Amino acid sequence: MNFNVRVLSSARYADRVATVLKERTDEPGLRLCLPTGSTPKPVYAMYAGNGGDLSQTTVFLLDEFGLPPGGPARCDAMLNADLLAKLAAPPARLETWDTETPDLTAECRRMEQAITDGGLDLALLGIGMNGHIGMNEPGSAVDSRSRVVDLHPATVEGAARYGADDEPAWGVTLGLGTLLESRSIWLLVTGLPKAEILAKALKGPETPQVPASYLRRHSSVTVWADEEAASLL
Ligand code: F6R
Repeated sequence: MNFNVRVLSSARYADRVATVLKERTDEPGLRLCLPTGSTPKPVYAMYAGNGGDLSQTTVFLLDEFGLPPGGPARCDAMLNADLLAKLAAPPARLETWDTETPDLTAECRRMEQAITDGGLDLALLGIGMNGHIGMNEPGSAVDSRSRVVDLHPATVEGAARYGADDEPAWGVTLGLGTLLESRSIWLLVTGLPKAEILAKALKGPETPQVPASYLRRHSSVTVWADEEAASLL
């Protein structure tokens, strides 16, 4: 296990993570996986506000809900609203998920291929209250690839928090195996409600019931936690 845990005050969190992200995206040709949801929002706002620039970066969207395109809870809509629309220029290349296609399996294969052709340099991830990573719900295999998944009730509830009109029953996600091949991984975790699951992921047994516990198998993971999320470590 090679976890580098960086604990920051809530006041400094977004600025620090955004600054280090900016250093990485200044490298030409970076291949970057980005999550959506509540956790990265302040980091993305700070990144954009501080002149962050993805014009040399290929961005892969981590996952997507099986919801009609255009709704505010779609991950592509959140990425756009929270980050892309605030940047001066679009990313060099952006890969998102087509969930309207009649052949979702082929769409997941396409995304998997787009990633494996060059790999990921950096995957930013959040953690669900149930320990999920992307939409790799409890029970996901450590070597799982990009695929269609049934959503856990807690994840469906999360979509409602993001403003979904309908409850998504399924989603598409990069697999745990796909993500574990990324050259480096950052896990972003903030707030007291995440303290228990973060402690389980880092200190509990490595188990498919807590998919984030598999991140310990990776050789270069940085956990960016605020003091509240880190309070049980
Ligand atoms: C989002 C994603 C999810 C979230 C997780 C935490 O793209 O893949 O795994 O990172 O559900 O969500 P928030 O940050 O809203 O608590």
